[in-house]
Amino acid sequence: MDKPTVFGSNAIDKLTEAYPEAPVLLDHQLGDHPLLSNAALAHLADAMRPVDVEYNRADLPVGIDPADVPDNGLSVIETIENIATNGSWMVFKFIEQVPAYRDFLHQTLAEIEPAVRNVTGEMMKLEGFIFLSSPDAVTPFHMDPEHNILLQLKGSKTMTVFPADDEELAPGTAHEAFHNGGHRNLQWRDDFAARGKAFELPAGKAIYVPVKAPHWVKNGPAPSLSLSITWQSEWAYREQYARAMNATLRRFGLNPAAPKRFPHQNHAKSLAWRTINKVQRTVGR
Ligand SMILES: [Fe+2]
Repeated sequence: MDKPTVFGSNAIDKLTEAYPEAPVLLDHQLGDHPLLSNAALAHLADAMRPVDVEYNRADLPVGIDPADVPDNGLSVIETIENIATNGSWMVFKFIEQVPAYRDFLHQTLAEIEPAVRNVTGEMMKLEGFIFLSSPDAVTPFHMDPEHNILLQLKGSKTMTVFPADDEELAPGTAHEAFHNGGHRNLQWRDDFAARGKAFELPAGKAIYVPVKAPHWVKNGPAPSLSLSITWQSEWAYREQYARAMNATLRRFGLNPAAPKRFPHQNHAKSLAWRTINKVQRTVGR
């Protein structure tokens, strides 16, 4: 592997200590990368599948129904160039679909592999996302199904992260609906606020977010550019299979227990679901 250029040994040590269940702040040295300039992002938007370039209004409450999120009425280029003033939130999803970004993503994730491989094994399904957002933009309360490191590149954000094992924040039915194609946003209640921990992310800081740890994000007073680098693990997949098994059990009128968090491996339910799924596919042929 090439010499690390994005994360120093101190960041790798901190991630090693926290991974995979604790959120942790890390230093990074990504700085002004040529693939992340406004001009490069405009080219990227052209090179990507249109469905993966998403942008909308950003002056949203912390809890909102995804169907109620309003369009910003602008083109991609206008959104990028006037992000300081147009009250928008923009994401480039799955940047690995463009070769230069795929190489960049793989190199960056290779740097942190020493903190990951011994704990959750091979890093799988490597995916990258770029977020551009106006001052004070809010990303509503939600969860993501991947291991994620968010690197802050310009401007600042506050990310409030909640425990991944609190089934009141993210009920079993919400996990199951999500894996069945539902939206990642979670229902917010004001009394949840005290359960979260706020992490300040100025440019040069990154945060590791555990799989399914609910969070919401508030931009600081300047436009924000950040990069999210994500991966899956066997453990994360088993958690999802166990959720799918729970959905099946719930259809039979049962109220199944949640999958357990790492280091529990959820082998039994994951295997049960994979077996049922295989039988269904065989019978359905
Ligand atoms: Fe997220």
